[in-house]
Amino acid sequence: MEEVPSDSSKFKMQGQGKSDWGEELRQKMTSYNASKTKSGEEASSVTVIFSLDNTVKGLSQILCVLENHSVSLSHIESRSSLSVSATTEFLAVLERGEGSEAKLTDILQQIKECVKSLEVVQGGRNDAVWFPRTLEEMNPCLTRPLYAELEPSHPGAKDPDYLAHRKKCWDVAQNYTIGTPVPRMEYSENQVRTFGAIFSKLKTLYPSNACKEFNEIFPDLVQECNISEEYIPQMEDVSQFVKKRTGFTLRPVSALLSARDFLSALAFRVFPATQYLRHTSSPFYTPEPDLCHELLGHCALLANPEFAQFSQEIGLASMGAPDEYIEKLSSVYWYTVEFGICKESSGRKAYGAGLLSSVAEIQYFLTDEPTVKPFEPSTAIKEVYPVEGFQTTYLLADSFSDALQKIRAFAATIPRPFTVRYNPYTQSIEVLDSKEKLLKVAEQLNGELNQLMDGISKLK
Ligand SMILES: [Fe+2]
Repeated sequence: MEEVPSDSSKFKMQGQGKSDWGEELRQKMTSYNASKTKSGEEASSVTVIFSLDNTVKGLSQILCVLENHSVSLSHIESRSSLSVSATTEFLAVLERGEGSEAKLTDILQQIKECVKSLEVVQGGRNDAVWFPRTLEEMNPCLTRPLYAELEPSHPGAKDPDYLAHRKKCWDVAQNYTIGTPVPRMEYSENQVRTFGAIFSKLKTLYPSNACKEFNEIFPDLVQECNISEEYIPQMEDVSQFVKKRTGFTLRPVSALLSARDFLSALAFRVFPATQYLRHTSSPFYTPEPDLCHELLGHCALLANPEFAQFSQEIGLASMGAPDEYIEKLSSVYWYTVEFGICKESSGRKAYGAGLLSSVAEIQYFLTDEPTVKPFEPSTAIKEVYPVEGFQTTYLLADSFSDALQKIRAFAATIPRPFTVRYNPYTQSIEVLDSKEKLLKVAEQLNGELNQLMDGISKLK
């Protein structure tokens, strides 16, 4: 299973410990200044992440700065640093009051004097949330996992060998650059046996319980990536397999990401995936997504063009969406990509990766126990889903196409003053917020339409 967690826990940092954070700040401020409102005025709010080693003293200094400039602190949350001991990190939203005359840029300079590090993570236009527009901007979003250490209840939390395996996977993910081959991972004999036990059982269940789109691709995935009871597939090979069919690539991540970061990667046709295996003591249980979930559960359908489109559109809908809509999209994602089921002439079939990677749940969803409702985004966003144990409710789609149409209709309800489009040539997100930009897209589409008409005419 994989959790797409609430965005309320998205506050995670990266890049700690850089000695020249002043330079980093200057770059961020340049970007911040460049994104001022259309009228040329400065935005009225900014989101920052700062770190302190003397929490009380540093915080009181910052509060003084804010008070002196009539700036309010509309949100603040804290946590211990993932990478720097005895350091606390804070996420804060600063809002300039009506009586405030100082520029936020000047105020931030003063705050900089009180903290160990400061990063502007969002600031600029008041009516939109920052989101990555290029692969280079998106890549760092995937190196800020929601946790760095295993929970004490994790089956591998006290196993030094397992912790060493996780450390290797962590290092690969944190140092990975999009566009480069995913480093190959070595697995122990025990790990191969664990993977083999899962693969062996699942492959007998797929023909009857998985959807036809999955079953059409899975044999090719197995063959081309050499998957067997004796061999754990390498992420790079699976990524190449998927890329050839839909353009999606896999990007190693060290643990779960925030919903916003995860969904933003989908917009670029990048699928964040974990490279580590569950603990060998519990082959049929994992408290978090592992490579069995990612590679067996997700990747066959990511190689299906319609499903890939469906996944990307959920990602595009998340770009610049307000937090409450990220939560709604997470629910839609959960009830489709993770635990979706669909209708076929021979009955209900699984297309969600949480089902396709669980020996027990891929059988359970067909019993009379769970509730089954028709898939509608409006239904998905109201459901409260369990992140552990079997789902109590599944949402049944008529087909992938039907689900995609419904997601599109839902995306149109997200309050954004623009729409976005992925440009595959530049691998970037285009923001369509002016007549000129829309006309440019129309010209491109016109060229493609002419090509289509030419092809059709030659078939006559
Ligand atoms: Fe997943």
